[in-house]
Amino acid sequence: MNDKIENTGEKGHTAQTGYVLVLSDATAQADYLASSILHHAEEKQDGPLCIALSGGSTPKRLYELLGSSEYADRMPWHKIHLFFGDERMVPHTDADSNFHMVKEALLKHIDIPFRNVHPMPVLEDPVKAAEIYQAELQEIYGFETLQKGKPLFDIVLLGLGADGHTASLFPGTPVLQEQEKWVSWSQPSDAPHQRLTLTYPAIASSRFVMFVVSGDSKTQIIREVRDENKPYPSAAITTEGELHWILDRAAGGE
Ligand code: 6PG
Repeated sequence: MNDKIENTGEKGHTAQTGYVLVLSDATAQADYLASSILHHAEEKQDGPLCIALSGGSTPKRLYELLGSSEYADRMPWHKIHLFFGDERMVPHTDADSNFHMVKEALLKHIDIPFRNVHPMPVLEDPVKAAEIYQAELQEIYGFETLQKGKPLFDIVLLGLGADGHTASLFPGTPVLQEQEKWVSWSQPSDAPHQRLTLTYPAIASSRFVMFVVSGDSKTQIIREVRDENKPYPSAAITTEGELHWILDRAAGGE
């Protein structure tokens, strides 16, 4: 494993100050992430391990590995809750649904309690859907407002779009200004579907944010976000805890 760790040594990372870990390829990247999630699940004693899953295609390999015979029976699914970082406003049976992708890659293959899986609701009214999901998060969290030092999520997995979006925080959308709500909605101009998304404050309320990015098509955008701090939505991601860029060699520009 070729790891290039750069860190500032303090908690409370931003997209620019987080660790960078470059793995040899997408398979090694998935292996690293799966073993990291297993480690966190085994370590977590005070309550469930709460993971916000990313959509898109990159994390599918990780989800398939977690659902494979190598991990499916090793993970303490009874103490893991799976949430979604964002969702397209299409039926959960639609091929474009993040829930559908996660169900096919992971959920169908593991023995996880039904109540531990929290798909984002798909409704005509995205405002209502966002309110419902926020209420579900608040129920699990135990507070109506986010508390410093009490992260909402243990792990938030994030992808990175070529336009610098992450989750469904797309350039030029009003949700980028949202600092109170935990869940809101967006209508990207150059991507399909209206979406629900976690907001910046909800993502920041985390122990670990992991950007999972692979392929040489993302090398430049990673550089612009992380090294040049260009004003993309993903560049404004922060966490109370640690931020990790988990890259394959292609995305890492090596
Ligand atoms: C989504 C994702 C989105 C994704 C990026 C990267 O619902 O589409 O949440 O933020 O992570 O677009 O997508 P790829 O992994 O397919 O490149």
